[in-house]
Amino acid sequence: VTPALRRPTPADHARVSAAIGVWWDHEEPGLGQRLRAEVPRLWFEHFTTTSWVADHPDGRLAGFLVGFLSPARPGSAYVHFVGVDPDLRRSGLGRELYARFAADAQRAGAHEVTCLTGPANALSVAFHRGLGFTAALDPDHEGPGEDRVLFHRSLGG
Ligand SMILES: CC(C)(COP(=O)(O)OP(=O)(O)OC[C@H]1O[C@@H](n2cnc3c(N)ncnc32)[C@H](O)[C@@H]1OP(=O)(O)O)[C@@H](O)C(=O)NCCC(=O)NCCS
Repeated sequence: VTPALRRPTPADHARVSAAIGVWWDHEEPGLGQRLRAEVPRLWFEHFTTTSWVADHPDGRLAGFLVGFLSPARPGSAYVHFVGVDPDLRRSGLGRELYARFAADAQRAGAHEVTCLTGPANALSVAFHRGLGFTAALDPDHEGPGEDRVLFHRSLGG
């Protein structure tokens, strides 16, 4: 059964936050709890027109993507966080969430999507490469020793 995709509401913040705590811990114990603070409620209040959530048929969260159109870089869309229920991985939901976001971005006139991840997150690197993003390592991107992999994909054309 395909999860149902819809726009988030403020009520989704608590369930997405709880999911981050569990889903990212699946990759590395302790990581999920650290990352919860990086997706505060404001994403579910101010970025709902460029974000998506997916629900299992029984109402549990299946996946989410939060992103925005850059105010400073017109034509550029940015994905902040994307996550899929570990039970549902590799079934195409992550790809579908990105497709919905890319459609939002194109409708708004954007020509590219960017995002970043930590070099240790091999799954995220494989996923973004699988979706056709180019990847470039940016040393010290977030400060000394805080390297990040920057992803880029052109839209349309
Ligand atoms: C990254 C993530 C969102 C991918 O979601 P998903 O629904 O499993 O991904 P999809 O099934 O749509 O996969 C799309 C493509 O990505 C690549 N991919 C996905 N998972 C992969 C894996 N485990 N190994 C290699 N390639 C992978 C493949 O190219 C895949 O296409 P294919 O299945 O046709 O070969 C999910 O694994 C996740 O939530 N990970 C933990 C959170 C995270 O790291 N998020 C990203 C940083 S914010």
